[in-house]
Amino acid sequence: MDSGLKAKVEKIMGECAGLRGEIERAARLIRAGGLVAFPTETVYGLGANALDPDAVAAIYKAKGRPSDNPIIVHVSSLQMAETIAELNNAALLLIEKFWPGPLSLVLKALPAVPEKTRGGLSTVAVRMPANALALALIEASGVPIAAPSANVSGRPSPTDACTVQDDLGDNVAMVLDGGAAKVGLESTVLDLSGGRPLLLRPGAVSREAIEAVLGVQVSATLSAGELKRSPGTRYRHYAPSVPLILAREGDGFWRAVAASGKKWAWLGLKEPLGDPQRKIIFADADEYARELFRALRLLEVSGVEIIIADPPLDEVGIGAALRDRLARAAAAD
Ligand code: TXA
Ligand code: MG
Repeated sequence: MDSGLKAKVEKIMGECAGLRGEIERAARLIRAGGLVAFPTETVYGLGANALDPDAVAAIYKAKGRPSDNPIIVHVSSLQMAETIAELNNAALLLIEKFWPGPLSLVLKALPAVPEKTRGGLSTVAVRMPANALALALIEASGVPIAAPSANVSGRPSPTDACTVQDDLGDNVAMVLDGGAAKVGLESTVLDLSGGRPLLLRPGAVSREAIEAVLGVQVSATLSAGELKRSPGTRYRHYAPSVPLILAREGDGFWRAVAASGKKWAWLGLKEPLGDPQRKIIFADADEYARELFRALRLLEVSGVEIIIADPPLDEVGIGAALRDRLARAAAAD
């Protein structure tokens, strides 16, 4: 399995051979305890040496992130993953199928992982991103890289380098520019540290695809106790500064929109029934996912007073992840 994974990593890394100088400079910054933002296939990450508590503390500070919300640790090889987490059988099966890729696995942490990185938990989330610059940066640094999404806490995740600059400015030593993120929504987070697999956050690696590999059902509804295991789910996320509501079927909804007299924007896969100030119609759920966060940031500064988003109908695959992010963006608290 390891040779298969290595071949996949080398193939992806081949795409950024021309950027050696930039990558070396970024890796030096990481080794010196600095912060470097970098692209991944999902969203941009704000990275620091995962094994250096002071460097990780700087991430929390730059983002304004609550310190009990643990950070995903990014690796570029199976050997590196083995130095930070106990890889159980389920993890190995999923790694073989989905890494490098948008799947973060929550596993028992090994002593090498500082408490700061784990947010005080006994587990650590590990992922191997499918992005040439990300993999090359981790490899050149020689250490696992802790990286949350590179936005100020509570803002939509950034899917390009300009947005990272806008959000974090001087708080980050360097931003590696890898163009637009391919997936656009954050990775699937799967907890494999307990008795049964638990989906903590839906993403591009779907629950159905995970179930097919593991041959067991993956639970997605979190009880109060389980919620405590994923601190990030307690916080309001992906919130645009203009209120967002989910579209509902029926004349009553559209009458209320018209009666409000508010300037509104529309996001969806089909045409709205009313007459919006702005509308963005996506070709399919993949494009909706890829462009959602950018669209929210655009609409915030467009002068509209309310955003109406029509969730995709499919509740499987990327559709489930989209519905999750839209519901969170719409949540009042
Ligand atoms: O796609 C992604 O995952 C991006 C890129 C940069 O890799 N990262 C990302 O990180 O979205 P962040 O910090 O924005 O979201 C990480 C989520 C949070 O909800 C956090 O609570 C959860 O993963 N998490 C991290 N470590 C955990 C752990 N040990 N146990 C439970 N949940 C964990
Ligand atoms: Mg985030």
